[in-house]
Amino acid sequence: TEMYPGIKRDERFKQLSSDDVTYFKELLGSDSALIDGLHQDAAADIEPFNEDWLHKYKGQCRLVLKPGSTEDVSAILKYCNEQKLAVVPQGGNTGLVGGSVPVFDEIVINMARMNKIHSFDEVSGSLVADAGCILETTDQYLAERGAIFPLDLGAKGSCHIGGNMATNAGGLRLLRYGSLHGSVLGLEVVLPDGTIMNDLCTLRKNNTGYDLKQLHIGAEGTIGIITKVSIQCPRRSSAINVAFFGLESFEKVQQAFREAKGQLSEILSAFELMDGKSQSMVHKVRPDSKKPLEDEHPFYCLIETSGSNGEHDYAKLESFLEDVMTKEIITDGVVAQDATQLKSLWSWREGIPECLGHWGGTYKYDVSIPIQDMYAIVDDISAKMEEAGLVGETDEYPVVGVVGYGHMGDSNLHLNIAVRRYDVEVEKILEPYVYEWIADKKGSISAEHGLGIAKKNYIGYSRDETTIGLMKQIKNLYDPNGIMNPYKYV
Ligand code: FAD
Ligand code: MLT
Ligand code: ZN
Repeated sequence: TEMYPGIKRDERFKQLSSDDVTYFKELLGSDSALIDGLHQDAAADIEPFNEDWLHKYKGQCRLVLKPGSTEDVSAILKYCNEQKLAVVPQGGNTGLVGGSVPVFDEIVINMARMNKIHSFDEVSGSLVADAGCILETTDQYLAERGAIFPLDLGAKGSCHIGGNMATNAGGLRLLRYGSLHGSVLGLEVVLPDGTIMNDLCTLRKNNTGYDLKQLHIGAEGTIGIITKVSIQCPRRSSAINVAFFGLESFEKVQQAFREAKGQLSEILSAFELMDGKSQSMVHKVRPDSKKPLEDEHPFYCLIETSGSNGEHDYAKLESFLEDVMTKEIITDGVVAQDATQLKSLWSWREGIPECLGHWGGTYKYDVSIPIQDMYAIVDDISAKMEEAGLVGETDEYPVVGVVGYGHMGDSNLHLNIAVRRYDVEVEKILEPYVYEWIADKKGSISAEHGLGIAKKNYIGYSRDETTIGLMKQIKNLYDPNGIMNPYKYV
């Protein structure tokens, strides 16, 4: 298809037949556990499972399976492996690299029905839950018990914790709680031939041999389906404060970050960056929400502190702001006075991805670069788009704007190009130029979103041949028939 230039359907894979559908119907035993596009006119029902969040990638799957248990997943995969039916594991379908939807006619295995929380140990903080639990729901469960899920991101209302593991999602508080490679205690995974790997350990420490669960964290559904998760959840901080401020330059953003680490140290829980252009686009899409600061600034930062003493934390944050104001590092700033304002300040950061998509689509580059050089790529791409005459206010121009935002605390920038339509002229400027730029700075072409289909061909910009060769061997070891999420990753 045009959407996937150069990729052909792998003829090793069988086409779905009526007999297959009958087999799955009997196996799952309930009509709500399956969408049968082979026999029913299910086009409208299947569409959301075939298309990604960015409306960029579209598959042609004719069957969606919704297993209700690990045993269901195991039986499905065993059958698919024997029959050479290709599959795509799917969580909340909020992934940003086209990994969660089929390329051709792969069967979608959607995890939404597996959404039970199994246990939470209030002393150790270990939580065991199904992969299909929605992140926000899981965090609410934890909040009622004084704990917090050690990951938060803008898609929390839809993404699954299994999907979070599969993508090794980073999110808004990695600065505080670290990567999932550190907080995940164990996983239950169904391997492509149906074997169940039960490594659902709840211990903090376990150095008995290779740590195989780590392979599945960030594997994007290429070597198994994660069915249960065991994760270390910290205590929820009783005091949360948020400050939002404007700055003149990226140089000043870096100074502010250094000061924040020094002065707020152990209570700092997020340090996010938004450029002025991203904020004015949010404002365009949501003109009724009150801007945090009256004047416009080239850059904005959002700082969050989480601690155990509200007054003490607030005083620390105020004195930090006063200090950076006096030193002329920041130009203007505000501290949230209540929970509503706190949420509203966060919405100016968390709402960016959705607002950028308002005009039709977004080209996304999720990069890690040494922090000094982090923003330069936004100016560079912006200038290139202007020169090519692609940016404008009216429909004849494909590009609405080029913006940068991201997780300053982790040197992770999101370079985004908001467009009215996906367009080859725009693409020609972006790729492989952006990837070359990043490789040149020894950065990563995928800091947190993964490879999926979008970056499959560019992995060589961030990994050497030996490493890629080993990855391919691992894929072949786990999935010799290649049925799991084909055409993607390596
Ligand atoms: P899906 O999109 O359904 O799937 C993602 C990949 O994982 C696919 O390859 C799929 O095959 C595989 N997969 C899903 N479930 C399983 C499973 N149970 N077993 C095996 N494989 C599986 N990402 C960040 O890192 N940081 C952010 O701050 C962030 N913010 C976001 C904000 C918005 C508004 C949106 C739309 C996305 C954001 N993302 C972010 C992208 C991120 O990858 C996802 O939101 C999330 O981690 C994916 O979860 P999901 O359940 O939607 O997975
Ligand atoms: C974010 O940080 O907002 C997410 O990673 C999503 C995005 O990059 O747009
Ligand atoms: Zn992000």
